[in-house]
Amino acid sequence: MDQVVNYETRGALAIVTIDNPPVNALSHAVREGLDSAIARAAGDDAIETVLLMCAGRTFIAGADIREFDQPPREPHLPDLLNRIEAVNKPIVAAIHGTALGGGLETAMACHYRCASADARLGLPEVNLGLLPGAGGTQRLPRLVGVELALDMMVGGRPIGARKAFDAGLIDAIIESEDLREGAIRYAGQLTQKAAAVRQTSAISISAEPDSRFFASYRARIARRTRGLLSPELIVECVEDAVSAPFPDALARERERFMRCKASPQSAALRHLFFAERDAARIPGLDSSAAPRPIRSIAVLGAGTMGSGIALACLRAGCEVLLLDSSDEALNAGRGRIEALLQQQVEKGRIQSDEAAADLGRLQLAREFDSLSGVDLVIEAVFENMDVKTDVFARLDQVCKPGTVLATNTSTLDIDRIAAATTRPRDVIGLHFFSPAHVMRLLEIVRGGETADDVIATAMAFARRLRKVGVLVGNCFGFVGNRMLYGYGRESQKLLLEGVAPERIDRVLYDWGMAMGPHAVGDLAGLDVGYRVRRERTDLPDDPCFYRIADMLVERGRLGQKTGMGMYDYPEGDRAAHPSAEVAEMIRAEANRLGVVQREIDDQEIVERCIFALINEGARCLEEGIAMRAADIDVIWVNGYGFPRHRGGPMFYASQIGLDRVYRGICRFRDTLDKRYWQPAALLEKVAAGDSAAAW
Ligand code: 3HC
Ligand code: NAI
Repeated sequence: MDQVVNYETRGALAIVTIDNPPVNALSHAVREGLDSAIARAAGDDAIETVLLMCAGRTFIAGADIREFDQPPREPHLPDLLNRIEAVNKPIVAAIHGTALGGGLETAMACHYRCASADARLGLPEVNLGLLPGAGGTQRLPRLVGVELALDMMVGGRPIGARKAFDAGLIDAIIESEDLREGAIRYAGQLTQKAAAVRQTSAISISAEPDSRFFASYRARIARRTRGLLSPELIVECVEDAVSAPFPDALARERERFMRCKASPQSAALRHLFFAERDAARIPGLDSSAAPRPIRSIAVLGAGTMGSGIALACLRAGCEVLLLDSSDEALNAGRGRIEALLQQQVEKGRIQSDEAAADLGRLQLAREFDSLSGVDLVIEAVFENMDVKTDVFARLDQVCKPGTVLATNTSTLDIDRIAAATTRPRDVIGLHFFSPAHVMRLLEIVRGGETADDVIATAMAFARRLRKVGVLVGNCFGFVGNRMLYGYGRESQKLLLEGVAPERIDRVLYDWGMAMGPHAVGDLAGLDVGYRVRRERTDLPDDPCFYRIADMLVERGRLGQKTGMGMYDYPEGDRAAHPSAEVAEMIRAEANRLGVVQREIDDQEIVERCIFALINEGARCLEEGIAMRAADIDVIWVNGYGFPRHRGGPMFYASQIGLDRVYRGICRFRDTLDKRYWQPAALLEKVAAGDSAAAW
């Protein structure tokens, strides 16, 4: 038998243990091993009960995602699970860690399920653009009912063992420390009482939903699943579970699963699954560079970002010292943190004692001297070079040797900030995104002198905050904001060319962006970008460049915070209302600047904005500011609302064809503006099929 599946017996009990590190994925070898282990137990008259469990850190975490790009090989999981379910002696799954996807499907094909108290169970296939393809859509509603099954499969979030027990997904929680011994005892009890074989497929769904249920469920999920293929197909599978015989419904589930697997969306989501994990691997980093221990953290500046960063650190269990120059700012910052924690309590996301414990780890300070003992400083004061260099020079004087000195600047030169200290090796960028306690991205900016162990510390710190850390190089705006400039430039130009802001936003939203660019500008505050543009000395000599955004700021229309920006927000309403004043202002300004207004179709709107992103991404790559195209994808999906199911701008470009993108950019160069539309050299090379050029 294959060593990834072990077989042993204890009296009348056969114990089948899958041992396929790191997460016991159901690779071809595991499926084969499991198939023969189960057949062996089934064929041995001395065996009365079978226990299926896993070695290592977790129960089966699902099908082997790496095999999805290869042709399927027998034994296919749905057939294997049908054979497991058909065995005429009880098979018990003992779950620890996470039983996910094909892992939970395997457990559901067993006749009994027990789990350790901290186990989690789920069908997260939707996150990979898939649906449960080995009977999950049919067995889960039979065990837990239609509604919870749909929520688990469409939402893709696992549930804890307690909830699984209450819902009927598992039959017992093993409280003992040793799951194996506890599970053996539980299986022994089943043998003793001659427990029956229970086939999940034979259960009829109780409390069938009425005819309106599925229509209202679809309406409920429409917004959050827009543009996605698999959620709708999951709902269709569950409709079958209610109305069709099991074998027919299973065949249709398989057909829909194969359709999802072959879809560009699933390819994109699988790309991101690996890209997010690969981001942690840094080529060339000294492997002996161990992260520095971070026990205490100071956050400088208690404004929007500082308070959000402090909260993110508190939620990760860190001690945080929040420093600002005035008591007023400090109290406002603390108030924001307290209110955000309270919101989490009200939403049931955390317990009130957890919120109190978090707040208990927060200290406030006004004096730099109080920073002498901290391990990490994250600076989030005003975005101004003089202010930042002054702060770093003071940090250099008070902090102990070895303190990591990080800046949250969104655009400024890390090396100039580092040069204000005598220890540039300890200086790094930790670029959080707003709201900092929510957004998953942490752009980690390496300066020219940043030490390898400081980089390792930053990567480990990102993991501790449960964020995805992506290492990038130092330049204006790093990767994310540098690319944003091109995207914003085109969304601004389109205004002058006659496309209404609400149409630009709608087209890009429908394409999949979390929000349209003009709605984002109003949310973030148009003054933020305005101030950055005033500080830049390298902007093009172009009267149209961000012209409308500048005019709005100069008219006091800063966005939601002033009740008007690109849109109107009457009486504190957060919904954007198109503004007649802005429409007239744009028309008059286009006229003054001599910009011809014309009919522009949706495709041009998308291509102008998205190709601008891709072209700048290619430049980041050729200059080494980004290490890998996939890193850029991770940044844009996790920090800028780029649709996950399109895989990020660089993956999207290769999916639609790099030559098509190249030709589009050349067309814009020839018809729109040569200054902005020179194709990146790397794009030109890959479009010409140069296989040596890495994308
Ligand atoms: N297949 C292949 N490799 C997998 C895998 C899978 N299903 N799940 C995890 N891995 C790999 C990761 O790529 C990573 O590899 P690396 O060390 O080379 O980067 C390694 O296992 C460890 O993974 P994580 O770094 O993510 O470890 P964590 O402890 O943070 O998380 C986990 C563990 C919760 C299991 C998480 O990895 C996860 O969510 N995995 C995906 C689960 C999933 O989506 N399952 C459904 C698959 S689709 C399916 O089952 C189809 C079926 O219905 C037919
Ligand atoms: P903010 O204006 O809300 O807060 C800045 C805080 O710093 C204020 O409370 C101010 O009193 C304090 N401060 C200023 N100088 C100080 C000093 N010398 N010592 C101590 N405290 C001082 O600004 P915001 O928006 O929080 O931005 C902070 C930094 O984060 C900037 O560098 C900005 O570019 C960056 N950033 C901002 C994002 C955003 O969406 N607002 C996103 C990502 C980064």
